[in-house]
Amino acid sequence: MYTPFEIKKDIFYVGVNDRTKYQFENHFLLPKGVAYNSYILKDEKTVLFDTVDISYSDVFLHKIKSVLGDKPIDYLVINHMEPDHSGAIEWLVSKFPDIKIVGNSRTEDMLKGFYGITDNVIVIKDKEELSIGEKTLRFYLTPMVHWPETMITYVPELHAIFSGDAFGAFGALNGGILDTQIDPERYHGEMIRYYASVVGKYGSPVQKALEKLSEIEIEAICSTHGPVWVNRKNIENVLALYDKLSKYEADEGLVIAYGSMYGNTEQLAEIIADSAARHGVKDIVMHNVSKSSESHILRDIFKYKGLIVGSPTYNSKLYPGVESLLSALENRQMKNRIFGYFSVYAWANGAKKELKAFSEKMDFELIGEPFDMKQSLNPEAIEKAWELGRLMAERLLSEKAVYIDN
Ligand code: FEO
Repeated sequence: MYTPFEIKKDIFYVGVNDRTKYQFENHFLLPKGVAYNSYILKDEKTVLFDTVDISYSDVFLHKIKSVLGDKPIDYLVINHMEPDHSGAIEWLVSKFPDIKIVGNSRTEDMLKGFYGITDNVIVIKDKEELSIGEKTLRFYLTPMVHWPETMITYVPELHAIFSGDAFGAFGALNGGILDTQIDPERYHGEMIRYYASVVGKYGSPVQKALEKLSEIEIEAICSTHGPVWVNRKNIENVLALYDKLSKYEADEGLVIAYGSMYGNTEQLAEIIADSAARHGVKDIVMHNVSKSSESHILRDIFKYKGLIVGSPTYNSKLYPGVESLLSALENRQMKNRIFGYFSVYAWANGAKKELKAFSEKMDFELIGEPFDMKQSLNPEAIEKAWELGRLMAERLLSEKAVYIDN
């Protein structure tokens, strides 16, 4: 039925595409779908790396059979236990009852808790190796990239890593699986959005994982989502992007995220954007928090150095979408941003107080004087909005000047 696809010598792709699910983790929008990648490595022993969402178990089995025929799978390596990858484990064990499941002590705990599996589990430690014939599996524990049990499996003879969520991207695979079959640029934004949404809280664990990976030669990155990276330049770019994102470094550019019920807050956001543009900022992204999805806003905040947030007062507090966004930023311990804010109110300004508290809590550089506006546009608010845009532009462009001077 399926024609097996060998992505590299003895490594076969058996993942599936999900173009049905509306939201990943029932939270992050999936306008381009998502792939659950799984791989078979052939040797004297046969290894399957991770499984797929349980909804796709039939397709998954057909793909496995297309590679193995009636041969069994000897090992299932679980690099990550989140159910988008572990969902089919219990079912897989029913099809291959002799399969040995390989994971670490945290995996063992989750296998028991999620699926009641305790038999045939091999528990490995950091950098432990398992021979499967001519090839070897070496396990690098990478806790909190994205869960505590996450690990990366390296096959030194092929210089291939099976990396779990790390280096993954949203977006189903539309025919092409390898980066060399597609325009990788198509997945760039979706890789940042996946990082910002799913992994973004864990900058420090990602740095530790990158340090471990720096010891090894990598010629293939087989993540559980998105394309397989085999082109040397693309691999360098993917590793560099993860390094940059996990250090909270960003490009010159500005995100203006605002809530607005009747357009008054939005008009101030427009004036700020106009001013920033006329003072030289080329990359400006405006997000109406009621229209843009949270993961798209987070993607751009991870991407750009400048951030301005505006909120009307709503029930004496922040506007709900703004409150949710600020909570997501705090959760991800977002840092290293140039930050400005403003608020709007009709009779009492609760938003101002909460924006101030957020600003003081975060490791941000405050730019300009936070300002507020009562009811609707007035000359003083317009002037302050223009000035905030100007100051932000000046600051962002000064970063560039420092960079060039160096
Ligand atoms: Fe793709 Fe953390 O799951």
